[in-house]
This record gives sequence, C-alpha cells and structure tokens, in this order.
Amino acid sequence: MPQIHFNTNKVFLEYTLLKYLSDNRSSSLTDSELNSLASDIIELSNLFTKNREILPSQYLNNKNLRRAYMMYFLPSNIYKIHLPLKELSLHPQKILSKKEIKILDLGSGPGTTILGILDFFSKQKKRPSLEFTAIDSVVENLSIAKDLFKLFTENVNIDASLKTFKINIEKTEAIPEGSYDIIILSNILNELFYKEEKKIAKRVSFLTTIIRKFLASDGNCIIIEPALRETTREMLEIRDSLVKNGFKIYSPCLIDEPCPALSNPKDWCHEDIPWIPPKIIKEIDKLTGLRKDSLKFSYLVLRKDKLSLSDILEKNSYRVVSEPLVSKGKLEFYICGIGGRRLITMLDKDKTPSNMQFQKLQRGDIVSFRDLIDEGNRFKIDKGTTVANLSSHIYKSPHLYI
Ligand SMILES: C[S@@+](CC[C@H](N)C(=O)[O-])C[C@H]1O[C@@H](n2cnc3c(N)ncnc32)[C@H](O)[C@@H]1O
Repeated sequence: MPQIHFNTNKVFLEYTLLKYLSDNRSSSLTDSELNSLASDIIELSNLFTKNREILPSQYLNNKNLRRAYMMYFLPSNIYKIHLPLKELSLHPQKILSKKEIKILDLGSGPGTTILGILDFFSKQKKRPSLEFTAIDSVVENLSIAKDLFKLFTENVNIDASLKTFKINIEKTEAIPEGSYDIIILSNILNELFYKEEKKIAKRVSFLTTIIRKFLASDGNCIIIEPALRETTREMLEIRDSLVKNGFKIYSPCLIDEPCPALSNPKDWCHEDIPWIPPKIIKEIDKLTGLRKDSLKFSYLVLRKDKLSLSDILEKNSYRVVSEPLVSKGKLEFYICGIGGRRLITMLDKDKTPSNMQFQKLQRGDIVSFRDLIDEGNRFKIDKGTTVANLSSHIYKSPHLYI
C-alpha cells in the first residue's frame, strides 16, 4: 500500500464545507437535516451504482443531490489525486518541478480535484504557481468550485488562480485553446457518451483528441474513476486502445502490454487506501449503511513521452493487484508486472526473515523479489526467496523531485 500522507487538515475541511453548506449558520446539522441529507446520499449512491441506467445527465443540477455530493463524495474524492501526483513527483526528471503549472479539470464538479491539488502542493517546499481551468456542464457546480477555491486559498499559502467555463466537454472544439501540464478527468469518463452504442470507441477518440490538442508534450493526463467493476473495466479497455494509439502509461501499470485483468470478465484493478473519514461521514455511514472508510478508486496517468514510474524501479518489480488471499497454511496475492498478472503463493511454513515482507503486502504496493520460483502460471516463494516491499521505501523517500 502506498504510504501517502494526506495533508489537508480534516477538521478545517469539514468545518469549511459544513459552514458553506449551511449558509454560514453553524458548523453542525440538526438531526432532521442529517436524516434528509442521508436519504439524498442514498439516492445519489444508488444512481452511481445499481440505478446507473437512469442517472440523468445533469444530475448535479438538482440542489439536494449536489449537496449530497458535496457532503459525502467530495471529501474523500479530494485526496484521490494525491497518489498520482506523488508518483509523478518521484521521477528523477522532475516532472512536477515547474515554476507554473497549468491544470485543466474536465468535469470539475464543485472543484473536488482542485482542492486536492491545492492541498498537495501547499505542503511542498517548492510551491509552483497553479493556474486552474475548470470546466463543467452545470453552472452551479462551477460557482461552488469558485467559492471553495476562494475559501481554501484564503487559508493555504499558495499562488493560484481559477477560470471556469460552462461547456459540454463531449464537444471538444468548445474547450478553450491552451497547452496544459496536467489534464484531470476525475469521476467523469464513465459519464461521457453514456447512452451511446459505441461509448468506449467514443471515449477513446475523445481522450485521443484531448491529449493531442491540449496536453503539453511533457504533460500528464490523470484519469480517476470509481472502483466499480464495470466502470474500471471500461477504463482498462480505453487504456489498451490509448496505448495502441501511442500514449504511455506512467502509472499504475508497470507494463505496456494489454491489461491482463481484461482476460477474465470477473477481474478489475483498483486502489483501496486506508482513510479516516471526517466525523460527519461516519455519522452518515451509520444512518445509511454505506461505508466510506477507505479511498477506493481506479486511476491512470497518461503521457505523450515515454516516461514511466517503472523507470525508477528494478525490472522485476510488480504491483500488488489484489487483497491478501488467506487460506489454511498459506498466503497468496495477485501481482502484475512483466509476464502479466499472476498468482503468487507462500506457505506459512516457508516464512523466513528475508521473505517476511510478503506477509505485510497490501493492494497497490510495489514489490520486488530475488530467487522467486516461477511455476509458469504462478510464482512461489520459498525459504530462499527475498521479498522487498518498495512502496514503504519509495513513497516515504525524501527524494521528491518537485
Ligand atoms: C461525478 S462528478 C465528478 C466531479 C469531480 N470531478 C469529482 O471528482 O468529484 C461528474 C461531473 O462531470 C460533469 N459532467 C458530466 N458530463 C459532462 C459533460 N459532457 N461536459 C461537462 N461536464 C460534464 C457533471 O456535471 C459533474 O459535475
């Protein structure tokens, strides 16, 4: 599990959102307000999952659903951008080390990712000046994004500006001209061309145009999607087409081959990062039966050049792409790297000081091995195998190149 330190002062975030949503009245909600918020959150959650077929295209036009999004989905979504940014900042070519970074946030909603980026950079020693362009089809979202941007920038020490545009991004020709260092699509790709028959092909063509036209030659297109099987598998199909179109995956994939998760219709690949939610989210979870105690998402960082996180890793590095699979007398994981996605097994009786790191692996970790036994369709760890969890080393490394 990547050791990411989420920076924002959660109390400040919770307080700011509550105050904003209750028109500066107070920083707490009454029981009846909390119950009505909880029922809107259930409605929105169902629209995102089991009732997706009826998700209206302008659902955040609805005041109650917008409020539900801001109180329940925005606080956790803010932090998801930290993982790709942290991975970019590890590259020795100093990908994020610029005086000024231009960011295009497509489908910005209420400015979720903008807050996450402000939070990320405000805690760095060298702070670039950040120039945001936020685009959404719902004007109310943009006005909230502007309000939250103002509230946050008043409280964090960073030079930043925000321009907003109400545009349907499916019409790429309407997007204002420019060359951006970072293009963000956070929880939006799965909503594009949703009702259309060839939605995957349309999304590939849309992204190809966006990247060719608006991404700087050394820029990063960051896609974040919900960790649901359907939305993630669609993103992975799109990933494969974009690789064919010549773009490079910077992370999370350590290989450029077609995604191995797609060969079994039951598989998909996502992150699950521990997170301590603000108090109000815990209260809502109690009322709704929903659970937001970790950050679950899928992501892709695409580049036009050939830089990749794998540049800083040993050749035989793998990403852990499953939960620990525990059964009597053994522990297994799925790992993905050269040779594709494979099961790796260790019997409890083979545990030694050199392979004991295996017991501590978590989804998303990057790991390397010496003297691993290759049994064809799976790997085996025995007493002679050495296991190194690179995540604890690289993510905590002082060598942040920004
Ligand atoms: C699930 S929200 C995500 C908001 C934000 N990016 C986040 O991660 O929290 C999707 C956003 O995309 C916007 N959206 C959906 N389709 C769009 C389109 N064709 N053009 C512009 N915005 C769109 C919606 O209005 C909504 O604000």
